[in-house]
Amino acid sequence: MIIAVDGPAASGKGTVARALALHFMLPYLDTGLLYRATGLQCLRHGGDPSNEAEAKAATGFSDAMMDDLEIRSEAASRAASVVSAHPAVRQALLERQVDFATQPGGAVLDGRDIGTVIAPHAEAKLFVTASPETRAKRRFAQLVGEGSKVAYDHVLTDILARDERDSSRSAAPLKRADDAALLETDDLNVQQSIAAAIALVGGVSPR
Ligand code: CDP
Ligand code: CDP
Repeated sequence: MIIAVDGPAASGKGTVARALALHFMLPYLDTGLLYRATGLQCLRHGGDPSNEAEAKAATGFSDAMMDDLEIRSEAASRAASVVSAHPAVRQALLERQVDFATQPGGAVLDGRDIGTVIAPHAEAKLFVTASPETRAKRRFAQLVGEGSKVAYDHVLTDILARDERDSSRSAAPLKRADDAALLETDDLNVQQSIAAAIALVGGVSPR
């Protein structure tokens, strides 16, 4: 069974996708990490994330980059959002994601275009979302928890800018697949979001 989980930043898609992977005992790929690794590699090599050729060259990052703590930083996050708009970058990262999705036994992937581009034939698709304010509060809490001194308004502005970039780009924009179940998490805590996701996916029969 392939489970595709998409949604905007801090909607809870990673939380839900990891829990689904555990519940259904499937391997899990956070595809945002591939874009973050590309963005970070580009910055480290003095490249410009908005330059398509320089961003594409950075898709040759080493696997160790995926475990680098800096990959979680806001700088990497912003760079990821910029490099991800380039068709050449998306193309370079495509095969790796399709291979992961189509491995024997199935997989869970989360991102922005899993249900629309990477695994359009996934048996289960979820589109996880919440208002920008809910998502900014969550991201803010995460950052404060990590000891960052960021301001809430700054986090909200960043979320809105990222939503705009992710939704308006022409290459694989963030968009709910027609056949994806909608999971709105504004009024759900982590446990409730996970339970709702398992219930939605549970109704689907495996391949
Ligand atoms: O965790 P968060 O939603 O903030 O970000 P992420 O999933 O780690 O993704 C970082 C950036 O990569 C996003 O802002 C997207 O622009 C991009 N991305 C994408 O374009 N397609 C994907 N399948 C996954 C991420
Ligand atoms: O992967 P994505 O960026 O969509 O979000 P996440 O990393 O799963 O969740 C972002 C933050 O929101 C985490 O700290 C989650 O614990 C929290 N969260 C929450 O408070 N309530 C939910 N219903 C879902 C996630």
